[in-house]
Amino acid sequence: MEFYIPTKVYHEDGAVLNHSAEIASLGRKAFIVTGKSSAVKTGALDDVIKALESNDTDYILYDKIEENPSVEAIMEATDTGRGHGADFVIGIGGGSPMDAAKAIALMVQNRDTAEEVLYKELKIKALPVAEVPTTCGTGSEVTPYAILTRNDKKTKQSIKHRIYPSVACIDAKYLKYAPVSVIRNTAIDALCHLIESYFNKKSTEYTKMLCKYGFRTWAKNRVALFDGKDFTYENYNQLLFASTLAGMAISHTGTSIPHGLSYYLTYNKNIPHGKAVGIFLPGYLNFMKKSLASDYNSVISDIGFDDLEEFKLFIKCCVGEFCITDKDICEMVQEMLANPVKLSSVPYDIGEKELRDIIEYIR
Ligand SMILES: [Fe+2]
Repeated sequence: MEFYIPTKVYHEDGAVLNHSAEIASLGRKAFIVTGKSSAVKTGALDDVIKALESNDTDYILYDKIEENPSVEAIMEATDTGRGHGADFVIGIGGGSPMDAAKAIALMVQNRDTAEEVLYKELKIKALPVAEVPTTCGTGSEVTPYAILTRNDKKTKQSIKHRIYPSVACIDAKYLKYAPVSVIRNTAIDALCHLIESYFNKKSTEYTKMLCKYGFRTWAKNRVALFDGKDFTYENYNQLLFASTLAGMAISHTGTSIPHGLSYYLTYNKNIPHGKAVGIFLPGYLNFMKKSLASDYNSVISDIGFDDLEEFKLFIKCCVGEFCITDKDICEMVQEMLANPVKLSSVPYDIGEKELRDIIEYIR
């Protein structure tokens, strides 16, 4: 068994300012990567700028990262980073800016390379990266993954390079500005990471330990998520903890079928990532119930549900309306059957029929 998480994690109130010297020590000029508004609204950008200025560290702000950033968007940001001589990157936000930060760190470090490098297996390094999450789903602050939109393949795909952040500053106060839909979607994404890692061919006793603790931590927030209101600081803190544990788990196992299916919905129907993966989670658990009943029983209980019907109702309430046509099902199944990495993550034989059952379970 192997277990390796090189990211230094600070999970506390005031994490960015408490560890400003360590963040600033990553280089001389920071390239701060954010989306359009959440880094400002949450106060996280303010904290990062204060942290850098208090250590006399120069920075450039790049606030144009959109949801599900494309390879083209990464290259546009890379041009700016290269032009200003950035030598480390700070990602602030949800999965999109944090994943973008890693890809940009790779491309800025390797100045003479073009976008093809992102999806080639090469031994090249990236600039150091610090991450500051403002949602509770991706776990990107501790994973080596950077998932980008590939317009050439009409889907989302992780780059070939494993880039672990050097530092992650996790502070629950940034979550209180997020809309309920974002908290719900990202919390469901974290649950998907935990479940897809737990039922995974690459899972080990170490990753299962993380998942088990993650399940129970996540479950404490089930009622607040269902109600969609009255989130407390403790809810935010626990959901962030669960998402970081999930990130550590998928760093070793990767994700599985719900994630593989979700990329079609996000690319073609613009459905947010957490919602898109959540749609397939009841069906995936149903598949596991048939394949490995004892593990299924312990998971459904650990996440706080009596049975799969109750879980399905919960997911339907959280994800809201969506439409999957017969044509979508055919295309999703074909896309999954052409994805040997995701298929091989499943501990049991899975083919077209099982994939259709997983997709159709929630309809
Ligand atoms: Fe995810």
